Amino acid sequence: MSASSAKVSLTGIKPTGEPHLGNYIGAVKPALALAQEYEALYFIADHHALTTVRDPRLLRRYTRSVAATWIAAGLDPDRVVFYRQSDIPEIFELTWIMSCMTSKGLMNRAHAYKAARDRNEESGKTDLDAGINMGLYNYPVLMAVDILIMEADVVPVGRDQVQHVEIAADIAGSFNHVYGDRFTFKIPQAVVPDAEAGRTLPGVDGRKMSKSYDNTIPLFCDEAQLKKLVRRIPTDSTPVEEPKDPDSSNIVQILDQFAEPEIAAETRRRLREGAMGWGELKNQLFEVLNTQLSPLRERYNALMDPDSELDALLAAGAEKARKRAVPVLAQVRKAIGID
Ligand code: ADP
Ligand code: TRP
Repeated sequence: MSASSAKVSLTGIKPTGEPHLGNYIGAVKPALALAQEYEALYFIADHHALTTVRDPRLLRRYTRSVAATWIAAGLDPDRVVFYRQSDIPEIFELTWIMSCMTSKGLMNRAHAYKAARDRNEESGKTDLDAGINMGLYNYPVLMAVDILIMEADVVPVGRDQVQHVEIAADIAGSFNHVYGDRFTFKIPQAVVPDAEAGRTLPGVDGRKMSKSYDNTIPLFCDEAQLKKLVRRIPTDSTPVEEPKDPDSSNIVQILDQFAEPEIAAETRRRLREGAMGWGELKNQLFEVLNTQLSPLRERYNALMDPDSELDALLAAGAEKARKRAVPVLAQVRKAIGID
């Protein structure tokens, strides 16, 4: 399929922390694979992060860190479109226009807003909107525009984001209903990776690895830190020579995602036969992770240098992305009578 006839996929990443192993397996790797099949666009949703990240240095650092992670993980900025949301001013103008096409009731039903109100209710507050800012409330409109302005066909997302893509389709429909004879937005579709559940990585306390549980192994922590964190993963006190069930081990779950299949199979066999202890298994996991991640870590650290080519790569990506956004906004302006 030639690039021009390929369907467009759009992946948005919110820079709210340093990426961890779970993000890499569950989000980065599957999203990078999309570039084989689609004309792939990837962007960093830095304005979306503003609903939670309020420290300017942190926001800047997370944005660069996410960008460096994707490139270190293999994203080729020459083959795909890779940009920062904040570099595309057209998005923000279109956000106003599309908010005028969006019914308030639709936003009242959005999950994140409803969840925030439920929390207020549970804690006995009389004002259910207490502490909720308009950024959280309007979040789905900005996300809709991220998608619509790039004319994406498919939007790969986790289950929690499917509703947002449906809202984007709704908002596009409202616009098309009024102005469809002058301009029509493409209706996007959410795709949820099949194997999502199978790819959930446990953290160092055995629960799902997540920034919210403070149990992550950062993707690019240094070797000493990596060793320390792997050692912290809980195990039981089964002695070395006793058979162990590999399927119930968190360490094996992580190993499965990073080791060659034959190596992981051999480890499973030795655990079952009582020929391997947890200590040796942890050493093996550390070695596998370190071998796989070292070259990526080196590239990541080089990109995180303030003088690296990272900013230039993002600027070039923004230029490519604006080639898509500018004509869409121009047609919309014309359609609505502001041109
Ligand atoms: P966190 O839970 O650390 O805040 P996010 O919610 O920001 O992570 O998730 C960003 C992406 O990474 C999502 O696509 C999510 O599905 C994926 N992801 C997060 N944690 C894991 C995990 N433990 N295993 C697999 N994928 C994960
Ligand atoms: N809301 C998404 C998240 O929290 C990030 C995001 C913003 C996004 N805009 C998008 C994802 C557009 C896909 C398409 O993860």
